[in-house]
Amino acid sequence: MNRIKTIISICLLISLITIGNLYAQQKTIPQKVEDLLKKMTLAEKIGQLNQLNGDWEATGPITKDVGSKLDAIKRGEIGSVLNIVGVQHTRAFQDAAMQSRLKIPLLFGQDVIHGYSITFPIPLAEAASWDMPAIEKSARIAATEAAAGGVHWTFAPMVDIARDPRWGRVMEGAGEDPYLGSLIATARVHGFQGKGLGNLDAVMSCAKHFAAYGAAIGGRDYNSVDMSLRTLWEIYLPPFKAAADAGAATFMNSFNDLNGTPASANSYLMRDILKGKWGFKGFVVSDWGSIGEMINHGYVKNNYEAANASINAGSDMDMESRSYINNLAKLVADKKVSVSTIDEAVRRILTKKFELGLFDDPYRFSNAEREKSVLNTPEHVEAAREMARKSIVLLKNEHNVLPLSKDLNSIALIGPLVTAKKEMKGFWSLDVGDETKIVSLYEGMQQAAGKTKLLVAKGCDITDTSRAGFDEAYKTAMHADVVIMAMGERPDMTGEAKSRSNIHLPGVQEDLIKAIMATGKPVVVLLMSGRPMVFNWTADHVPAILYTWWLGNQAGNAMADVLYGNYNPGAKLPITFPRTEGQIPIYYNHYNTGRPAHGDNDVNYTSAYIDLPNSPKYAFGHGLSYTTFGYSNLRFSKKFLSKNESITVSFDLQNTGKYAGEEVAQLYLRQMVSQPVRPIKELKGFQKVMLQPGETKTITFTIDKQKLSFYNDQLQWITEPGEFGLMIGSASDDIRLQDSFSLVNTPAH
Ligand code: NOJ
Repeated sequence: MNRIKTIISICLLISLITIGNLYAQQKTIPQKVEDLLKKMTLAEKIGQLNQLNGDWEATGPITKDVGSKLDAIKRGEIGSVLNIVGVQHTRAFQDAAMQSRLKIPLLFGQDVIHGYSITFPIPLAEAASWDMPAIEKSARIAATEAAAGGVHWTFAPMVDIARDPRWGRVMEGAGEDPYLGSLIATARVHGFQGKGLGNLDAVMSCAKHFAAYGAAIGGRDYNSVDMSLRTLWEIYLPPFKAAADAGAATFMNSFNDLNGTPASANSYLMRDILKGKWGFKGFVVSDWGSIGEMINHGYVKNNYEAANASINAGSDMDMESRSYINNLAKLVADKKVSVSTIDEAVRRILTKKFELGLFDDPYRFSNAEREKSVLNTPEHVEAAREMARKSIVLLKNEHNVLPLSKDLNSIALIGPLVTAKKEMKGFWSLDVGDETKIVSLYEGMQQAAGKTKLLVAKGCDITDTSRAGFDEAYKTAMHADVVIMAMGERPDMTGEAKSRSNIHLPGVQEDLIKAIMATGKPVVVLLMSGRPMVFNWTADHVPAILYTWWLGNQAGNAMADVLYGNYNPGAKLPITFPRTEGQIPIYYNHYNTGRPAHGDNDVNYTSAYIDLPNSPKYAFGHGLSYTTFGYSNLRFSKKFLSKNESITVSFDLQNTGKYAGEEVAQLYLRQMVSQPVRPIKELKGFQKVMLQPGETKTITFTIDKQKLSFYNDQLQWITEPGEFGLMIGSASDDIRLQDSFSLVNTPAH
C-alpha cells in the first residue's frame, strides 16, 4: 500500500513539475523579465547596466583597473563585455556569469563593422555599390560568422551622415546623403539581424552614434556639433529613424555634444525622440567612456553627476566609464534616480538577452564546431569578392585605357600598395581571419594576367618623402606596355581618431605618378583610402583612375576582375570629392543662396571663392562604366498632383556602348519656392539596372507626398504646394533629363 502511495506521489510530483515547466515555457518574454526583475537586488540591477572591455584589444582609453573582471562577473557586477571574440574566450567569461547568484548571461559585443573573419570592403566602399541586396548580404555573412564565434552584438551599422572627408570616420558610414544612408542603414540592420534575434546566425545590431557625430566641427574627431534642429531632423536623423524602423536592437550614443548638451545625457535625443516619438523598444549603450567624459565637456562635476544625467536622459548601459556601477546605488539612495528608471533600463537589456535565447542556453553562440564550419566558407569568400568589385568606382577612363587587353606582353605594377596584403582590410577590421589569405593586387593580377609578364617596383612609400625608388620605377615602367599604379593612404589614416587636416594623396606619391606619366606609357592609377582624397594633378593628367577604397580580403582579385573587364564597374560615389580642403564642408544638396555662382568662374559678387571653382573634383553620384548609357523619352503620368496622390515618371535607359553593364539611374528633386528654402537637389530615388549592349529598359519612379515633404521651422513634416524641378541622371552633376511638376492643393485630374 505504502509503495503504491509513494508511486502515486512521485507521479503527481513529476506531473506538477512538468506542468510548472510548461507554464514557465509559455510565459512571454515580458513576463519572464518581470519575474527576474523581482528577484534582483538593486546591486544586481546596476550590474546589468555596466559594460566592460574584455580580453581582446581595447578600442578606447582604459581608464582604471578594476581588478579581476571574472570575479566582478561572478559578483553580478557586469552585464556585458565588449571586445571579446571566439568560442574559447566567450565561454570562459560566460562560465563566470554562470557562477553569479542569478546566473544572468553576459552579452558579448564587438565592432564587427565590415566582416568578421572574412573582411568585406569598408562600409563607405560598400555604400558606393548603391546595391542594397549586396550590402545586406555582406552584413548577413558578417553576422553569421560573428555569431558562430560567440558574438551576440555588433556595434554597427554606423549611420552617421558625413559631409567632411577630413573626419577619419567617414570610412565607417554610408557617406553624405540621408536618402541613400537610410536605405543602407535598413539593409545593414536587416543583414545583421537576419530572420530575427534568437536565430543562431543573427546578432543584435547597434545604430550609432546617436546623434550627429558626423558633423564634428572641422572634421576633428570627438569635436562639438553645432547645428539647427531642422538640419538635425532633415539630414542627420533619417538614417537613425530607418534603423529603428528596421528593428535595430540597440542604439549607441555619441561622444560629441550637440548644441552644448553631450549626446550621452541628451534626453531630447534619447527620451523625446528615440524612445518617445519613435517608440524604440531596444536599449541604448553609451560610447566608450562617454558618460564619464561629460566631466571633460564641463557638463558635470564628477562621475556621480555624470551617471545621474545619463541614466535619467535614457542611456541604459554604460560602456567603460564605470560611472553607473560606482554611483547609481548612491543616486538611488539620494533619491536622484528612481528605482523605476533603473528598472526600465534593466528591463530593456534583459529583454534582449531573452530574445537572443541566452537564458535557455548561455553558450548557444559559443559552439566550437559551428565556429570551425561557418567561418571562411567558399561562399563567403566569393561574396566578399563580389562585394569588392561592386565597390570600385571608375572615376575616369579616357581613350578607353581600360579594360586591359589580355594580349599585353607586360604590365608594370608600381606603387607602395602593389604587394600590400593586410592593409587591404582597412580600419575596423578584426584579427580573426588568416592574413595569408588576403589577396594583394599583385596576387590578383598574377591569377588574371595569363601570359602577360608582371613587373613590380615600389617607387616610394606612403608617407615617406624619399624619391630613391623613382628611378627603378621609371625603368620598370619603360619595359611595360601598360602601367598600373597602386597608391593611397595607410589604412590607419582613416578610422576613429584619424582625422586629417590635409587629405592630399600623402608623401611623394603624386610626384611618382608624374614621373611615371613622363614615360608616355598608358597609366592606370588605383587609389586606396577610407576617405575622399585630393589628387588634382592625377585627376587632370592620368587617363584612367579607379577608386578602390579598402576592399577587404578579396581586394586583389576584385581589382584584377575590374582591370581586365571580367567585371564592368558600376559604382557611384556616395560622398563628394573636393578639389581641396578649403572647400570643406562640401556636399551636393546645399541651398542656392541669394547670390549663386553661375558656373565655375562666376565671382562677380557671387557666393564663390576667388581662387577656386565651387564645383567639386568629383560629384556625389559620379562613377563611370566601360559602357555608356543613353537617357531619353521622359514622361509623366500627370504633371499635377495633390497631397494624397502620386505620379509616376518614366524614361528609357539604353546601353549605348559595347559592354554589358549596370547603371545607377538617379532621381533628384527640388522644390523651387518654399519657406524655409529647399536644397538645389535632393536624391529621392535610384535604380541600379543591368543592360546588355544595345538593350533599352523603361525605368519608372513613383513620386508621392513622402518624397515631397520636409521639416518646417517648427519641425513639422509638411508639404508645401508649388513647383518641383525633376532631374534624372547618371550623377548629381550629370543630369540627363529634366522637367517639372506641381503639387497643388486640390486633387487634379
Ligand atoms: C568607440 C567608438 O566610437 C564606437 O563606435 C565603438 O563601437 C566603441 N568605441 C567600441 O569599440
